[in-house]
Amino acid sequence: MTGTDLAAALAGARVMPVLTVPSTATAAPLADALAAGGARCAEVTFRTPDAEQVLKAMAAHGGLAVGAGTVLAPEQAERAVAAGARFVVSPGFDEEVIEKCRELGVPVVPGIANATELMRAQKAGITTVKLFPAESLGGLRALRALAAPFPGVRFVPTGGIGADQLAGYLADPAVLAVGGSWMATTDHLRRGDYDEIRRLTAAAVEVCTP
Ligand code: 3PG
Repeated sequence: MTGTDLAAALAGARVMPVLTVPSTATAAPLADALAAGGARCAEVTFRTPDAEQVLKAMAAHGGLAVGAGTVLAPEQAERAVAAGARFVVSPGFDEEVIEKCRELGVPVVPGIANATELMRAQKAGITTVKLFPAESLGGLRALRALAAPFPGVRFVPTGGIGADQLAGYLADPAVLAVGGSWMATTDHLRRGDYDEIRRLTAAAVEVCTP
């Protein structure tokens, strides 16, 4: 997948479930529930010991474009791609992670939280960024203010966003897609509540459908 492919995939999906999966056993039913709800992509965060195995299992599912999230270091990007990640997401902007992703031929969406980081990202040739943590930074108002001087950049706001804020973000032309964990929380996964994951995913996908 190239950066252009990823931007097109995100523009098509418009919502990206962000997953912190406690055990590999939950990967297959989770992928089933997300796909049944109409999700097209998902980000598996590197925040659990099983993240690599989860990524592998979810990538093998085939129904979703699965990427790795919370990638903080180049060696994590390497492990993520080896496990089948089709894209890499980072909470912040790190040149070494960007460099490694380019070397690996995998698109990367770095996190930015202010104009300085956005300028660094732009200098590195990045045009799709994650605004993180979006709600704590001021939500849509912050996004609009930040987007104004950077007309060539598209945003994937993530962090503290729930079903109620989704439509508002999606209506902004600077927003490519919205990320969030509300569709499949660690609590849902611990309870094995895949019906609820499917329901929340379907509700989000409906909001994204023009
Ligand atoms: C992330 O890693 O992108 C965020 O932790 C997801 O944010 P949320 O859990 O507030 O949706």
